[in-house]
Amino acid sequence: MFEIVIKKLEDAKKIVFVTGAGISQESGIPTFRGKDGLWRNYNAMKLATIDSFYDNPKLVWEWYNERRRNVFSAEPNLGHKAIVELEKFVKVVVLTQNIDGLHQRAGSTEVLELHGSIVKIKCAICNFKSEIVTEFIDIPPLCKCGNILRPDVVWFGESLPQDIWQQAIIHARNCDVMIVVGTSLVVSPANTLPVYAKQNGAILIEINPEKTIMSSEMDLSIRKTSVIALPEFVSVFK
Ligand code: APR
Repeated sequence: MFEIVIKKLEDAKKIVFVTGAGISQESGIPTFRGKDGLWRNYNAMKLATIDSFYDNPKLVWEWYNERRRNVFSAEPNLGHKAIVELEKFVKVVVLTQNIDGLHQRAGSTEVLELHGSIVKIKCAICNFKSEIVTEFIDIPPLCKCGNILRPDVVWFGESLPQDIWQQAIIHARNCDVMIVVGTSLVVSPANTLPVYAKQNGAILIEINPEKTIMSSEMDLSIRKTSVIALPEFVSVFK
């Protein structure tokens, strides 16, 4: 099996990464699940649903402000940078569930943000969208239309931005290799991307120190952190 994977990697014309919180863990950004996960200390249903936002928009804004400060003080790590390096050898597309922008800051050229971005905002009612330049003094901030502005991220129960999701499916369907890094793959629909890839004959590789619910579907599971595994992986191409 290992030889087949190596051969497929050598011949690959397009590699798609599906990334999750684990890839930014070594940059100091906590994951959601697992022993130090955010959802252990915070109640997701009080912070990451539209109902909880309307119940207490100030609390939700404070939580995102704190996370944004953490993201701004973090730097892309050797895992993010290895994915950029890989672009020298093969076409690379990154489909990320992360809202931290670290792939783009590392220099990846094609990144689709499936769950939005921590620097983007939108009106809860009208079509206004923008980026946060400086922190708001009064929270929750208001749109010109008078309604509340919210983080432009995907909360539980919400659909993904459809244009981005459709593009993500196309990339998943026409890649030769999909590398799933640092995600528990428990959140839908992002966790269906490996299924689209596999149905179309791609090789699936997982980089995660822990087993995931899709580990048995993988052609290769690398049980290391992304900072260790990704530079090693890219060195295969050099
Ligand atoms: N390197 C690689 N993987 C790691 C590392 C690391 N250094 N540290 C942890 N992991 C793995 C964990 O083993 C786990 O499988 O990263 C995964 C993180 O899983 P989650 O916390 O569930 O994060 P994610 O899969 O991105 O969550 C999906 O859930 O709440 C929502 O919208 C949020 O986008 C997020 C979605």
